[in-house]
Amino acid sequence: MPALTKKITLSDLRQARTSGEKIAMLTCYDFTTARLMQEAGVPALLVGDSAANVILGHDTTLPISLSFISELAGAVRRGAPNCFVIGDMPFGSYQGSIGRGVKNACKLVKYSGVDCVKLEVARSQLPLVRELADAGVAVMAHLGLRPQAVGILGGYRFQGRTADEAGEILRLAIEMQEAGAAAILLEAVPPEVGQAVVDQTTLPVIGCGAGPACHGSVVVTHDILNLSARRPRFADMVEDVATPLKRGVSEYVRRLKAGEYPAAAHQYEMPAEEKTEFISRLKSIEF
Ligand code: KIV
Repeated sequence: MPALTKKITLSDLRQARTSGEKIAMLTCYDFTTARLMQEAGVPALLVGDSAANVILGHDTTLPISLSFISELAGAVRRGAPNCFVIGDMPFGSYQGSIGRGVKNACKLVKYSGVDCVKLEVARSQLPLVRELADAGVAVMAHLGLRPQAVGILGGYRFQGRTADEAGEILRLAIEMQEAGAAAILLEAVPPEVGQAVVDQTTLPVIGCGAGPACHGSVVVTHDILNLSARRPRFADMVEDVATPLKRGVSEYVRRLKAGEYPAAAHQYEMPAEEKTEFISRLKSIEF
């Protein structure tokens, strides 16, 4: 894919509904990877709370803080100025009161410069989504499997298993659109649910294990590059980056131990007369 030379906006995401061109979205948590992703032509980057797992090593996404996500999102923004960057609102940063949710979402937008914020939504978040939309903040409403709700879900099971559950996800997607959400993210639901949300809303729908009808797809980058310990069934491993990475660092260790590194090419040269003077001072201990 060619590098992105023009800024991707929400209009580009909306256009995917009519053009049929799929929106590729990947998680990203740092400046360097963001720069490479922009060069590789990835239009949309999600600074997900999955950073709690793949960056911080937690079992769930719950412990990550807003300030940590903001730092990461700022780095991604600087690395990929042309990508559409979405910042994830962490667990506890938008619950409790609308005012608190608005304040924290605006903080994330202001501090890190993200184009959009993502919230894992239940019906009780409708007024918050409305308030954010009125404030001019683009909101991606995350439905289906909501990893931040692991406490009541009792595990990371796919959602929309029954007609009732599937209907409830669809209803909520429609209500989120009515409240002013700019896009929908649907995680771990059967393809029929993905198709129904695409058919019955007018928003761009990004799937994360939600079937082929979605206008785009997002996965955790570590999962498709063989960098995660566990991979969900919907993540396709496209490249093994772990093996060359381990080979590279092992080679560094080997060269150091073998005395091959540092070599002359890696050293700094003093001017000849300074070197001579320094060595003679070392002999006479004149400092
Ligand atoms: O945090 C994240 O990475 C996500 C995606 C898996 C959708 O929410």
